[in-house]
Amino acid sequence: MNILEIKNLNLSFSSNGQLFQALYDINLSLKRGEMLALVGESGCGKTVTAMSILRLLAPNARITSGEILYKGQNLLNYTEKQMQTIRGRELALVPQDPMTSLNPLYTIGSQLLEVIELHQKIKGKEAENIAVDVLNQVKIPNARERLKSYPHEFSGGMRQRVIIAMALACKSEVIIADEPTTALDVTVQAQIMELLKEIQKDLNTSFIFISHDFGLVYEAADNAAVMYAGHIVEYSATDELFKNPRHPYTKALLKALPDFNSVKLEPIEGQPPSIKDYFKGCSFEPRCDKRMDICSQKNPEFYTLGNSKVSCWLYK
Ligand SMILES: Nc1ncnc2c1ncn2[C@@H]1O[C@H](COP(=O)(O)OP(=O)(O)OP(=O)(O)O)[C@@H](O)[C@H]1O
Ligand code: SF4
Ligand SMILES: [Mg+2]
Repeated sequence: MNILEIKNLNLSFSSNGQLFQALYDINLSLKRGEMLALVGESGCGKTVTAMSILRLLAPNARITSGEILYKGQNLLNYTEKQMQTIRGRELALVPQDPMTSLNPLYTIGSQLLEVIELHQKIKGKEAENIAVDVLNQVKIPNARERLKSYPHEFSGGMRQRVIIAMALACKSEVIIADEPTTALDVTVQAQIMELLKEIQKDLNTSFIFISHDFGLVYEAADNAAVMYAGHIVEYSATDELFKNPRHPYTKALLKALPDFNSVKLEPIEGQPPSIKDYFKGCSFEPRCDKRMDICSQKNPEFYTLGNSKVSCWLYK
């Protein structure tokens, strides 16, 4: 069974009395223990998709239709109070910048204990032991000592580990990691990714892993949805996506990826559109070298090819 399922999610932002659509018919499903990647260039709607699940959207966001089913229940019908019982608990967020989730004025220990006391209803020494335990699990050395440290005394990678430890302390079932390693150097990035993979394997935690880095996605994710201008354009098992990319945008992304091209790097020409640009047809059309007449007329439907779904007229 899917632990999380997004069905036909459409979302717009209002600006000066006008609505601009940022997500178009997003369909995703996440199984228990799966790592699903959302990948695509800046502005394609990865974070907005994640924040819709957590219901942490900006005040000018409007979900105009769709469902977000968590264990079969539509989160869009939840009150804010109901959301608070699962957000940061069953559904955790690991953000790009851990300082957005840590309070610089409180020690790591007090912040971890607060989460443990709130979510596990455990206090005192017992809670402290759990805090040490989860810090050990995320490989923070001298964990008991480090409870007394403040966030600024930790490196970026260690802060990110603390956020992950909080998710572990709450026994989160779904962890949404939004570019969790972008702010870190390459070695630390690899360590954090390894940690997330270990958690996925050992605890059967489900992940939505957001990245613009196709290389990381290849290494980490089971399945991947490629997003472009608020649309999912290709959705498939990750190895299939890399072995046999179908959508011209996926192909272009791969050609722009250093590790996959010993021969020649080909950056994608042009820029992705803004949500203020309106498209009658395929939003990739202005940058697509395979475009046909129909492409500017009508947005393509999804076609199923093997284990992939691809939205492109080439596959009609
Ligand atoms: N509050 C807002 N009001 C208006 N537009 C917004 C708002 N928040 C996001 N957007 C727009 O929605 C689109 C999707 O943004 P989103 O943050 O999801 O992109 P992203 O794929 O996460 O990009 P990045 O890789 O840069 O993080 C962008 O065009 C962005 O400008
Ligand atoms: S639908 Fe047309 S423009 Fe869009 S990606 Fe496919 S071929 Fe290119
Ligand atoms: Mg983002």
